[in-house]
Amino acid sequence: MEDTAININLAETRTISLEEQPFLEIQGRQELSGEVKISGAKNSALAIMAASLLCQDDCRLRNIPCLVDINRMSQLLQALGVKVQRNREILDINAVNIRSSQAPYEIVSRMRASFDIIGPLLTRLGVARVPLPGGCAIGARPVDLYLQGLQAMGANIQIESGGIVYACIPGNKGRLQGAKIYLNKPSVGATKTIMTAATLAEGETRIENAAQEPEIVDLANFCRQMGAQIKGAGTNTIIISGVERLHALDYSIIPDRIEAGTFLIAGAITRSDISLCPVIPEHLMPVIAKLNSIGCRVINEGSDRLRILPENLKAVDIETLPYPGFPTDMQAPFMALLSISEGNSIISETIFENRFRHVAELNRMGADIRVKGNHALIRGVSALSGAPVMATDLRASAALVVAGLAAEGTTIVRGLHHLDRGYENIESKLQKLGAKLQRVNSPNRQGN
Ligand code: UD1
Repeated sequence: MEDTAININLAETRTISLEEQPFLEIQGRQELSGEVKISGAKNSALAIMAASLLCQDDCRLRNIPCLVDINRMSQLLQALGVKVQRNREILDINAVNIRSSQAPYEIVSRMRASFDIIGPLLTRLGVARVPLPGGCAIGARPVDLYLQGLQAMGANIQIESGGIVYACIPGNKGRLQGAKIYLNKPSVGATKTIMTAATLAEGETRIENAAQEPEIVDLANFCRQMGAQIKGAGTNTIIISGVERLHALDYSIIPDRIEAGTFLIAGAITRSDISLCPVIPEHLMPVIAKLNSIGCRVINEGSDRLRILPENLKAVDIETLPYPGFPTDMQAPFMALLSISEGNSIISETIFENRFRHVAELNRMGADIRVKGNHALIRGVSALSGAPVMATDLRASAALVVAGLAAEGTTIVRGLHHLDRGYENIESKLQKLGAKLQRVNSPNRQGN
């Protein structure tokens, strides 16, 4: 059995020029067939790893995907003094001794999800110092709702020089205090932060207008299995009764609904018959509903398998919304699909203000898409053609890969560091389905 300690390399800062970057070379228009294995959910795994800071015993996590973001979260936990060991898809975490309450800027600045440690760290140690995650390619992404929630529970919050959030439980209170908190947006990150902080608080916390995403339910199930008292996760009101201590557990992460949705689109865009397993079909309802509207057939084959069958594609309008609405993370890949669907579609992005950066790249491949404000008008074209394109964020990179699968000729996708954050072995999974693509490491990089 392979037993790998995670490598900490905070100094990996050298900028890599365009010529040095590895790229994906995709020969489009291949029909896909067969079944693809869906990995564990990245966003669940990251939140649950952060929440393992709450546990004063051993914590075993299963179905952890092998991704750059997961390595970064492991590095962050290790920097706090937590023991983390990876053995294939199992992660063993022991946070009995947390040596530091201060998260290193080098990691937090590179991954927004690392800010999720603030709730668990504060409630467990009474103090946390975490750098602000800052903006990112898809929008400003503030953390005001996270911090207001912690303040409502009695935390003192200050922003120190250098943009470091210093949070502490003041005086002799010892524990955060339960509170009634209304979120003016159903933020996933704020809901996770308040819910985890409340598990060890004194008294009852009630989160109104909470996020209802499946990853929130997974996080609540993880916390409950450690002994936390949480009711209502998956609805818009979550009630947490604080306990004094949480105990050891062995927990398996849910399958990744965004990876699964991306493969459904890969099937639809190449007019192929493919199956996906394991999945939780209910988590994909909003995506399946839109696939049905554009004319695709998606069939449930048992409780954890979906199959998509080739059909002609027609236009549909989409508005991204909090769960159970259409997920913003599927917006870019779905736009690639609509770009070759017959008729005019409108996509309205209501969650993030700058999430159309893939449009210019899809247009480079022959798509006809125009953006006005938070709306994109997509005029379906008969075919895309291969081109060199640049991924600008994680889900934009997936959009370009699926577009490349459908395009005539060769597509070169650069910016793979985005793709590697969220898609485990995407090229080998697609190759097994019959796609023709390969990762090319630039000759300039070989031997480095
Ligand atoms: C999470 C997911 C991300 C997904 C998003 C929405 C992870 C690691 N990331 O991101 O993939 O696209 O949910 O489903 O799980 N907001 C505020 N103030 C806050 C917090 C959020 O105004 O304090 C705003 C954001 O700017 C955004 C909206 O609320 O416009 C939704 O953000 P949120 O649900 O918090 O998304 P994340 O947790 O960042």
